[in-house]
Amino acid sequence: MTKTATLTFSDGTPPIELPILEGTYGKPVIDLKALAAHGYFTHDPGFTATSSCNSAITYIDGEEGLLYYRGYPIEELAYKSDHMEVSYLLLHGELPTAEQKTAFVNSIRHHTLLHDQMENVFRGFRRSAHPMAVMIGVTGAMSAFYHEGTDLFDPKHREIVAHRLLAKIPTVAAWAYKFNEGQPFVYPNNRLSYAENFMHMMFSTPCEPYEPNPVLARALDRIFLLHADHEQNASTSTVRLSGSSGANPYACVAAGMASLWGPLHGGANEAVLKMLDEMGDVSRIPEYIARAKDKSSGFRLMGFGHRVYRNMDPRARIIRQTAHEVLEALDLKDNPTFRMAMELERIALEDEYFVSRKLYPNVDFYSGIIFRAMGIPTSMFTVLFALARTAGWVAQWNEMLSDPAHKIGRPRQRYIGHARREYVPIEARRA
Ligand code: ACO
Repeated sequence: MTKTATLTFSDGTPPIELPILEGTYGKPVIDLKALAAHGYFTHDPGFTATSSCNSAITYIDGEEGLLYYRGYPIEELAYKSDHMEVSYLLLHGELPTAEQKTAFVNSIRHHTLLHDQMENVFRGFRRSAHPMAVMIGVTGAMSAFYHEGTDLFDPKHREIVAHRLLAKIPTVAAWAYKFNEGQPFVYPNNRLSYAENFMHMMFSTPCEPYEPNPVLARALDRIFLLHADHEQNASTSTVRLSGSSGANPYACVAAGMASLWGPLHGGANEAVLKMLDEMGDVSRIPEYIARAKDKSSGFRLMGFGHRVYRNMDPRARIIRQTAHEVLEALDLKDNPTFRMAMELERIALEDEYFVSRKLYPNVDFYSGIIFRAMGIPTSMFTVLFALARTAGWVAQWNEMLSDPAHKIGRPRQRYIGHARREYVPIEARRA
């Protein structure tokens, strides 16, 4: 029997019976669709208690510190799989067979090149433009190069869109960096893996051969995999909402990137490194810890705590190990910035204030450290996040459009403006 909730009113309006829907896991949701017919809307700014869709892609349990992609725990995927396989899983719902994986990787490899004229799009930006601004602009511009004749309601066409985005976004990301640096664009090398190819386009120049370090390539691939999806966060919801109108998918992903760029979303790892740079020396850690505990300071220790995870973020546990491997491989354990980070981590994990509030180092704390160790500038951190999240964005967009019951997203509002009033001629207006 379907469980229901009854909404009662204090003014004698008859109660409304609302069905309660259960998912595979997670909190049940009250289906509110019937309310509109009774003349009511719900009001939940920030969607703090609102489920916006049915999704079978990602599950998070923040209390327990669990993250599953298509039912597979993130730990298993991080240690046994790779970003390409996980992208396939997110998109298609199942792990690929060996043949399916080969075909998928080949398809992504053969879509990495950008249309030659897209170089001109890059050259239209100022050199000093933030790489995220370039990334958003160029991804949006892909709609002018790759969209003609696309039928969004044909699954085969949507697959081509997904492959193009997965393949070309690393090229766009690396070129945003090259343009910023004033270095020539480096073309993709289809013999390399996904992460190696990105490193090649980022770090090689025509003057010197470049060999991607396998430890760093593995670390980067793991970061991509760990960031590939995180259910209905702000940027993913942006991609879904803009895509719900049947809009151009490249433009929708560009919209998702714009949302991700906000400091409350994708900007935290950049903030971690800014904080460490400002701190300057291990001796100042107690001062920062004291400021973080002092509520009147308004300061928070960047890279600690999470809105959803009230336990250690499972991604942070994995990426912590990767951070140590990278520092070891690059012989950077004694570098002052990384010594500061490791000491901060040690103190915060023992300090009563952080322990009692379950403020663990988060994924941004470690990804920032890894990116810095790899020589990636802080302005590129969100770009790398966007590159990784593209897999989730296209999977979520595809899931939404494959649902025959899908509707354009159209939230309601509670109007709190003026009541009706008469137009006042300009001569009669007073400031
Ligand atoms: N430093 C010091 N104190 C903190 C921190 C922190 N980083 N984070 C939370 N607290 C304290 C709060 O002041 C509060 O203390 P109180 O109970 O004495 O009032 C308690 O811990 C609970 O925190 P909330 O405010 O309930 O946590 P909330 O869910 O609002 O915030 C957030 C989560 C925004 C991530 C917060 O922990 C924070 O600002 N962290 C630093 C920024 C950061 O690293 N963001 C990246 C998040 S990960 C991601 O987005 C992928």
